[in-house]
Amino acid sequence: MFPVSISGLKDSVKVLSVFTLHEAKVTSKIETSGAQAQIEPKFFLTFAGVFWRLPNRNPTRFIPIMQKIDVILGLQWGDEGKGKIVDYLANDYDIVARFQGGPNAGHTLKFGGKKYVLHTVPSGIFRENLINLIGNGVVLDPVVFERELRGLEQSGVAFHKRLLVSRKAHLILPTHRWLDAASEAHKGKSKIGSTLKGIGPTYMDKTGRNGLRVGDIQAANFREQYEALKTKHLELLKIYPEVSFDLAGAEAAWFSSLDTLRSLPFVDSEYYINDALADGKRILAEGAQGAMLDIDFGTYPFVTSSNTITAGVCTGLGVAPQRIGRVIGITKAYCTRVGGGPFPTELDNEIGERLRQEGQEFGSTTGRPRRCGWIDLPQLLYTILINGVTEICMTKIDVLNVFDEIAAATHYRIDGQQQHTLPYDLCNVEIEPVLRSYLGWQCSLDAVRSFDELPDAARNFLTDLEIYLGVPVKMISTGPEREKLIVR
Ligand code: GDP
Ligand code: IMO
Ligand code: MG
Repeated sequence: MFPVSISGLKDSVKVLSVFTLHEAKVTSKIETSGAQAQIEPKFFLTFAGVFWRLPNRNPTRFIPIMQKIDVILGLQWGDEGKGKIVDYLANDYDIVARFQGGPNAGHTLKFGGKKYVLHTVPSGIFRENLINLIGNGVVLDPVVFERELRGLEQSGVAFHKRLLVSRKAHLILPTHRWLDAASEAHKGKSKIGSTLKGIGPTYMDKTGRNGLRVGDIQAANFREQYEALKTKHLELLKIYPEVSFDLAGAEAAWFSSLDTLRSLPFVDSEYYINDALADGKRILAEGAQGAMLDIDFGTYPFVTSSNTITAGVCTGLGVAPQRIGRVIGITKAYCTRVGGGPFPTELDNEIGERLRQEGQEFGSTTGRPRRCGWIDLPQLLYTILINGVTEICMTKIDVLNVFDEIAAATHYRIDGQQQHTLPYDLCNVEIEPVLRSYLGWQCSLDAVRSFDELPDAARNFLTDLEIYLGVPVKMISTGPEREKLIVR
């Protein structure tokens, strides 16, 4: 922030300007000072802005001020390394907020020789003083949440007062998990490969207008509300194959875990976030899953049940679209997917196996082996488009160290025709990826701290992808640890 004076304004008014050079935009905040100030500061904050004469524009325009919310999200099928990057960047923010998904997410952080996996808690929790918010778009299982909080306590993380929960976040009931398992069993071979955390059934109840929300647990008749929804679920379960489930045990654990949830501050997150933005607070929205698992734009029906894309930030936190700032899209230097569904560049061979071993590609939530393949550029062009990605962070480039040759899919060949767009339905179409090969670098990147120190072959690979994708690669991750990150 640079205080600047603008001629024509009274001495009693100080203008603080924030220049965001990469967007060449100017936002300003006016503060009153001195005894002459006649108007309440709140008034100024509401109407503050700066009169700015744009080149070739007349008359002078008023640019309203308000801090923007930056976004980090996955551009593939999840597990791109979002947790690590959020944790790294969190130092530059005041608030980190999750806006969708639930305990199907597993975000891994490594520092101080230790590994932490977060499912519901935002990845800013390890940074002191930083507020972490669970937004209304999230679905929350109090049992998983309690377990996660106990783990944080054991690691000495003071989260009370720093971890806020939206009253409007929906609750995952034990019977949602049961329904998830029964629905997957019913699908047989075409099962989605759900994490079985109850995500789909909970979002179904949300859109079906049956759900229970975090704020409801404070209602006097909460038990009644719970019983009514449970009864519906038990009726529904009759249409599915039988799946064993210890309801009594799960229910006892669920009700007991509500005490932990109650011990945290509940907020109306839409007001909280917008007030924070008006106060100039810096906010980072943390996505879960990846854009190819988005309910609308992913490889439907092999997707999750929420909007994992930038638009989900607006509905999952209550911010208007014009409040979105940087959109940092994360991709691995190759590609993985866990669960069922189409995966055009999948390598069901020894190269895929090598990627899995080198990248330790086993699910953070379920431990399942992840399917592996080369990076898919048509797929990335698609998710860059729908997310409005302003910069890319490429993770796990070190996993490619051992290969003498690596590849990227530049096009899809479908019915003999080459295209760089995704077909309507990836599930029922034969896609042959058209690959471009690159020389590997075959050396460790452990000591590399800047883009210029990268081996020529790695720089060539990154530069080529950057040109193809039309978005700058601003961060390159060379290992799971916090410090293994090149920022350009
Ligand atoms: P998320 O769900 O997007 O947060 O990603 P996950 O945590 O599920 O999976 C990413 C995995 O890769 C984790 O085990 C991370 O510790 C690890 N990881 C993250 N960045 C890098 C990197 O640059 N190199 C390597 N080798 N591992 C990484
Ligand atoms: P993070 O945040 C990878 C996948 C599941 C399944 C499909 C639907 O760690 O990147 P669901 O449990 O939502 O009904 O499963 O989505 N999936 C993920 N894959 N990373 C995740 O989260 C995922 N969350 C869900 O494997 O194929
Ligand atoms: Mg994960």
